[in-house]
Amino acid sequence: MRKPIIAGNWKMFKTRDETLQFIYAVSNRVASIEKVDSVICAPFPVLRCLVKRQGDNLRIGAQNMHFAEEGAYTGEVSAAMLNSIDVSYVIIGHSERRAMFNETDETVNKKLHQAFKHELKPILCVGESLAQRESGSTEKVIEDQIKKDLSGLSKEQVEGLVIAYEPIWAIGTGKTATSAIADETCGFIRKVVGDLYGMETAEVIRIQYGGSVKLSNIDELMSMPNIDGALIGGASLVAEDFIKLVAAAVK
Ligand code: PGA
Repeated sequence: MRKPIIAGNWKMFKTRDETLQFIYAVSNRVASIEKVDSVICAPFPVLRCLVKRQGDNLRIGAQNMHFAEEGAYTGEVSAAMLNSIDVSYVIIGHSERRAMFNETDETVNKKLHQAFKHELKPILCVGESLAQRESGSTEKVIEDQIKKDLSGLSKEQVEGLVIAYEPIWAIGTGKTATSAIADETCGFIRKVVGDLYGMETAEVIRIQYGGSVKLSNIDELMSMPNIDGALIGGASLVAEDFIKLVAAAVK
């Protein structure tokens, strides 16, 4: 039995005051939903005030990090820095970073190794564009991403990883993949992980769906056998909605 995991991806939203308002409204209520791991992935400046409210079922994550240990990388943040303030998770390879900030499978792979080195749990994002889906190359694109992104990781590391399947055409567009498409692709990701690391690992790894997940579609998505949770952008920003999304993930 895989424990469902709901992660909010705040992207570049919320000041400190907005963050405090949100976390006071959410933390106790979400922490009491013991059957779900909930994660809030927030911008760097507010991570410190969020980690103080961390508990067993509510963890805090960053949305990116650099792959180097330290160095002359103006504007970047290291895995050791995140670990030193008790951040638990980090999103790696989000499609917005791949599209706008030169993230490649090579940097994603280096970041995964570095995150594990500093005991951060990565949420690895993979997914195809609309053109790739329409030309029938979804599986090839995703298999390629997974092979390159996971290169050199151990079985134990991969078992601690969360993979988020996020079709680029469904992110922030209001277009959700049908639950059948989402489940089929998450199942395919599980198969690729199984081919690389064995069936035991494929059974353990948690795979989320992401892309316009909201209150009206979470129940159906969570009812699918290969979907273990969701990575949620827009709908995770409203406290009451986030609590309901976490509650809906109880399987
Ligand atoms: P969305 O974003 O829920 O706003 O579509 C999801 C994501 O980018 O992780």
